[in-house]
This record gives sequence, C-alpha cells and structure tokens, in this order.
Amino acid sequence: MSLLTLVYTLLFYIAGSVLLAGLAYRIRLYARTPTPLHIPTTPAPTTRAGVVKRMFFEVTLFNSLFKASKWTWLFGWLMHAALLLVLLRHLRYFTEPVWSWVALLQPFGFYAGFAMLAGLAGLWARRLLVDRVRYISSPSDHLMLALLIGIVLTGLGMRYVAPADIVAVKAFFLGLMYFDWQPMPPDWMLNLHLLLVAALMLVFPFSKLLHAPGVFFSPTRNQADNPREHRHLPTRTSTAADTRG
Ligand code: HEM
Repeated sequence: MSLLTLVYTLLFYIAGSVLLAGLAYRIRLYARTPTPLHIPTTPAPTTRAGVVKRMFFEVTLFNSLFKASKWTWLFGWLMHAALLLVLLRHLRYFTEPVWSWVALLQPFGFYAGFAMLAGLAGLWARRLLVDRVRYISSPSDHLMLALLIGIVLTGLGMRYVAPADIVAVKAFFLGLMYFDWQPMPPDWMLNLHLLLVAALMLVFPFSKLLHAPGVFFSPTRNQADNPREHRHLPTRTSTAADTRG
C-alpha cells in the first residue's frame, strides 16, 4: 500500500468516525435540552400536523429567511439546493450498481457546481459588503465559506482542468466501505478535493454547520401555538433554592 493510500485511508476513517460520532453526540444533546418556555414564533400552527408542515417548508424553502432578507434567501437557497443535487450526484461513487434515480439526476447535477459557487459567492459578498453583517462575522464564518468554495472549485477543476480517474476513486471508497482497501489515485486535484472534504467532515460537528440538524430542534419553529388547549408545564429542575426549602 502506497503512503498516499495509507494517509487517505486513515484520514477518511478518522473523519467519518468524527463526523458520525460528533453528530450523534450533538443531536442527543439537542434532543435532551429542556425547552422550559413555550415560544413558537407566531403566527404559528396550532396542531402537531401543522408544525410538521411548517417545518417541511422551512427546511425545503427557507420560509423564515425569505421573510427576513430576500438577497440572503436567494443565495442561501441556491447554494443549499445545488449542494443537495451535487451530493445526490456523488452517490454514484458509493453504490454499485448505481441506483437508477441517481443516474437520472446526473445531467441535472451538471450545472449544480456552478450554482453552488454563485450561491457561496453571494453569501460571502454579503458578509464582506453589508456593514452590519461584516461586524458580527467571525473568522469561522469566513472559514466555512472558504472551505466550501475550495471544495467546489477543486470539484469543478476535476472536470475542466485536471480530470481524475473516477473509476479508481469509486474503487477506493467502495474499498473503504467493505474493508477491502484499494489504491488512492495520485491525481492532485482529486487529492486536494478529498483533503478539503475530510477537513469539512472533521469540523462539521464543532461548527455553525450544525444548523442543519439544529433547525429541527428550534423551539420557535417546532412548537405548536396551543397554550390555551394544552397546559404547558415548564420542565422542572432542582435548584439550590429547592434544596434549601
Ligand atoms: C468523499 C466524498 C467525495 C468524493 C469521493 C468526491 C469526488 C468527486 C469527483 C471525482 C468529482 C469529479 C466529477 C466529474 O469529473 O464529473 C467531484 C466533483 C465535485 N464535487 Fe466532490 N467528492 C466528494 C465530496 C464532495 C462534497 C462533500 C462536496 C460539497 C460540499 C463536493 C462538491 C463537488 C462539486 C461541486 C463538484 C463539481 C460538480 C460535480 O461534478 O457535481 N464533493 N467530486
């Protein structure tokens, strides 16, 4: 096994484990955090089914962002929709045979890389050009955008500048999944793409990107506006005052 293969094999096992364990830990933490106040953002649905519908449109259309800022919505939605298409297109590297619906998606996904780039550029321009957004932007906000742009540029770079041996890439990742290790092709653009992807996987559970699972646990979105129908009792935790009686 070459050094390159060894490094990438270990890197992806570590990054995959950190991503999965980190996400499981965070989601468990979110699920167990008490929500002592009943604070749905009104107008809010009054039933559970209504909450599910609201959440569905929130995560597919970014409804509340649309109400807050049209430009941020446009670039944000474009970036996320394109990302979804890109990721679904990538499934062909991890499944054998390739699922028919993934094969059908391929032509649609072709331009998704550019759409993602346009969305990310717009989101970054907002952080740099809008005074009050620049003021509250931290280095990690910029770093995440830079990392995603790096992944997209190296991805597109494989198509237009330095093509990669995608049959070998697929063999490498199937090998990782079935513990039958295969060589990592020594294509520099691909190696860079994968290095950045591994970095993204490693930082994900510690970053703002946790808003993806986090939105489902947001009390302002996931609560029904039903305090008149159901008595809402705050979660009671014992305090020093309780023990003092
Ligand atoms: C281990 C995971 C990944 C592997 C094996 C992988 C591999 C590849 C390969 C081989 C290409 C070239 C496709 C071609 O020449 O047609 C590519 C393109 C691309 N990748 Fe990845 N990639 C991975 C993860 C990601 C992630 C997480 C993102 C986004 C955050 C991403 C974004 C892109 C983009 C935007 C393109 C160009 C557009 C496209 O072909 O869909 N990749 N990737």
